[in-house]
Amino acid sequence: MSRAGFRHAPPRAVAMIEALRGLGYSTATALADIIDNSIAAGATTVDLTFVWNGPGSSVRIEDDGHGMSAAELDSAMRLGDRNPLDQRSENDLGRFGLGLKTASFSQCRRLTVATTGKDGLQCLRWDLDVLAASTDDGWHLLEGPDDSAAALVADFGTRKKGTLVLWEVLDRIVSDGFREQDFLDLIDRVERHLSMVFHRYLEGARPLLRLRIAGKSIAPWDPFLSGHPAKPWHSPPASAPGMPGVEVECHVLPHKDRLSAKEFESAQGPDGWTAQQGFYVYRNQRLLVAGSWLGLGQGRGWTKDEAHRLARIRLDIPNSADAAWKIDIRKSTARPPVEIRAWLAKLADDTRARARRAFAMRGQAPRTRNGEVVSQVWQSHHFSGGMRYRIDTTHPAVRAVLDDAKGLAPQVLAMLRIIEETVPVQRIWIDTAEQRETPRTGFAGEPAAAVMDVLKIMYRNMVQLKGMSPSQARSRLLLTEPFQNHPELVAALPDDPTEQEQKQ
Ligand SMILES: Nc1ncnc2c1ncn2[C@@H]1O[C@H](COP(=O)(O)OP(=O)(O)OP(=O)(O)O)[C@@H](O)[C@H]1O
Ligand SMILES: [Mg+2]
Repeated sequence: MSRAGFRHAPPRAVAMIEALRGLGYSTATALADIIDNSIAAGATTVDLTFVWNGPGSSVRIEDDGHGMSAAELDSAMRLGDRNPLDQRSENDLGRFGLGLKTASFSQCRRLTVATTGKDGLQCLRWDLDVLAASTDDGWHLLEGPDDSAAALVADFGTRKKGTLVLWEVLDRIVSDGFREQDFLDLIDRVERHLSMVFHRYLEGARPLLRLRIAGKSIAPWDPFLSGHPAKPWHSPPASAPGMPGVEVECHVLPHKDRLSAKEFESAQGPDGWTAQQGFYVYRNQRLLVAGSWLGLGQGRGWTKDEAHRLARIRLDIPNSADAAWKIDIRKSTARPPVEIRAWLAKLADDTRARARRAFAMRGQAPRTRNGEVVSQVWQSHHFSGGMRYRIDTTHPAVRAVLDDAKGLAPQVLAMLRIIEETVPVQRIWIDTAEQRETPRTGFAGEPAAAVMDVLKIMYRNMVQLKGMSPSQARSRLLLTEPFQNHPELVAALPDDPTEQEQKQ
């Protein structure tokens, strides 16, 4: 064969598209990719509609963006019609010229796009079943909607401008055994994902975007609990040296004890506290990565663990450096270029240390809402060989026993030393990591009566033996671990400590 010769070697349409279906989108990430296009087209409202009809179910996305001309729609429907190396406008969320097709085919076999722009209503469609049945392996882009969608498309055509993306034959969603309830659960997952990915578009008094499912607006989910009074720390924004448009802001979220149960639940995010720590990478305000340490850290890189779950770092990147950040077609990964890694690692290391301290707050002298220090049983001591845990003998419960112990005092102290030397640190560490939850302490989940039993003994001791007035004793108990978390029980203590004994 001559060296100058070449063969024309186009891919087989049906094989190519079938292969692209496996890029790894979820329904939620695929929809985010379609919404990216709407945002890039200047849309201010995007409506998602999920229609359940068993195997005839469909999903559609309608926007009020600028729409496309006939030629633009033709180009939009083709795979690989835009060069990923082209420069994009600052607000464009696209890069590869593929998302509309790859995201759609990952979920459905029939993709219909209708648009109204300067050429009036235009509509084109891909149908994988038609391609599979064709004998020439060609790229048959069909004109107009299928009969099933004719009315819908005609109705859309009455709008002045906008684009409709319709997914039918949802073979990757409505598989055998998939029921209506599964569809509803899927919609919930989609909503949670979109409220996270586009939260910066959805926030504020005048949001940039209105994103609705079945007419109901999706509320933003802010990973950083911006403005929450219990947040221990956040950094001012910092610009990356030598990298225009790259900005970082580090956050440490409040400890569980400082959040209401509802806040704690909602702040964790779709994948939970441990999974959602780390960097949040935004490209043009759109979230690409929702919590990752980006391969930073010594050796094999930091892993996500319980102790660092309060650390979240906003990282903004522009769309002009996509190749350097290794953005993928699904817009779900980004890797920092080598020249910025050390800078990011330093900021992350500092944030992780702060988050670790906030997480371990229970061992670090918590304060009441008024800022008074709560007296704690356990103290952590740092020394040159590491750290160790010690029981504070000035804690009222311990002190009371030691004061009364007389001849038993040496034995009591020996017992405390043994407890100190055998704190099951490893065990707690492993259990915490495995359960992804901190073991319960501070009477959490215990019935009030169980707390009261212990509380009454402390109270009686303070009033009868230490000579405190009932109100002094109550104030003291409010600053004593673990009763500071049970103010309602402390308030319920009667003035006369013996009276409660008789009542029992
Ligand atoms: N809703 C829409 N409104 C107007 N134009 C659109 C819309 N959706 C797609 N387009 C046009 O179709 C083109 C192709 O979209 P597609 O999502 O396949 O690729 P992309 O957005 O350019 O890049 P990426 O693969 O990174 O998403 C877009 O560049 C845009 O010009
Ligand atoms: Mg796109």
